[in-house]
Amino acid sequence: MRRVTTVYVFNGPNLNLLGTRRPDVYGANTLADVEALCRESTSGHGMELDFRQTNHEGTLVDWIQEAGAAVRHGSAIGLVLNAAAYTHTSVALHDAIEGAELPTVEVHISNVHAREEFRHHSHVSPVAAGIVVGFGIDGYALAIDGLVRRARPLRAV
Ligand code: DQA
Repeated sequence: MRRVTTVYVFNGPNLNLLGTRRPDVYGANTLADVEALCRESTSGHGMELDFRQTNHEGTLVDWIQEAGAAVRHGSAIGLVLNAAAYTHTSVALHDAIEGAELPTVEVHISNVHAREEFRHHSHVSPVAAGIVVGFGIDGYALAIDGLVRRARPLRAV
């Protein structure tokens, strides 16, 4: 029997407001649209999606530990993480990803490097497998592709 493999997508604070919060920066799509995009992507890869959002830092830590255990167990390939503002402030998220040895692709809808200086530093980047920044919500699909390719490396073409 084929084993179902999960891709986790976790979203941090204020991303529940996508569509109404700064549409000039984040676009008009809602978080439900992001989830639909991610589901289309994971099902195209024959995988399950576990998509979540929270405004609470400790909840993200708990979820990262849970996802790390699932990857160790072989039932998941990793995490796409838009930690939103916690990206720039949270040593706890850095430590959680590192401690869980969780393959993580960091995503930002906007190009954080073209914005305020306080958004230029990320506590997540040093422990990320890869980073996708500035492609709008399409960045989530790119990040899922990256995780899948990382888990199933292509042979030389
Ligand atoms: C964001 C960028 C962060 O700086 C910001 O705090 C967010 C969203 C993005 O997706 O562009 O909430 O992570």
